[in-house]
Amino acid sequence: MLNEHIQIGPISVPIWPKGVRIQNMDPMVYFAVFPDNDLIRSVAGPKLLAGEEAFRKAEGDRWVGAGGAKVRDIGSWPCPAMTLLHERAKLAFKMITKAKTAEIDDCWASVYRKGEFIGPHAHRRTEMSLVYHLEPPDPKDRAEFNGALGITDPRVAKCCPTSPGCVTSQIYPPLDPGTLVMFPSFVVHYVTPYLGDGHRISIAWNIAREKLQGNVADQPLL
Ligand SMILES: [Fe+2]
Repeated sequence: MLNEHIQIGPISVPIWPKGVRIQNMDPMVYFAVFPDNDLIRSVAGPKLLAGEEAFRKAEGDRWVGAGGAKVRDIGSWPCPAMTLLHERAKLAFKMITKAKTAEIDDCWASVYRKGEFIGPHAHRRTEMSLVYHLEPPDPKDRAEFNGALGITDPRVAKCCPTSPGCVTSQIYPPLDPGTLVMFPSFVVHYVTPYLGDGHRISIAWNIAREKLQGNVADQPLL
């Protein structure tokens, strides 16, 4: 898998480019930065924005704290850029957990517009959750951690710098384009209000070692 490629137009893209390393921010929080985000965004970005438009047309007025527009059928898209991201997410899962198998239980894209955010929450069906920053806020819109994915959980040591198990701080993983952030699904995370005039696109996966029974809709979609 490490040496496998996926064809995107005329370009053969490695699922795991040489030199990309998974780094720890904490024993439970990982990230990796991929160098080919411009290509992936150029292919997947317009499709996700079309999905956003359809979502907002169907949903009407939406609470700003609902995590932006959700594009939820991306797992079945015949889109090589999305296929690359799915394979990359599964490979990252295997590298972190040492599992031999990876099954995507759920995946979706979130498109945030000005003022939208999502409060602290976790995901309960799976072992790991992953978030890919396809189009994060511009650096000028990131002041004070605006539009940032944050982590705050009593089981994450860096969130508890003064007393174990007592959350007095948060972690803000890197927010640059092409960053994949990974953590156990039970870890509490959130997105602060996006304050730019454009859009913010992230893609998320919940991954388990085996195909899970039951319906993914049994859990909140956030
Ligand atoms: Fe989440």
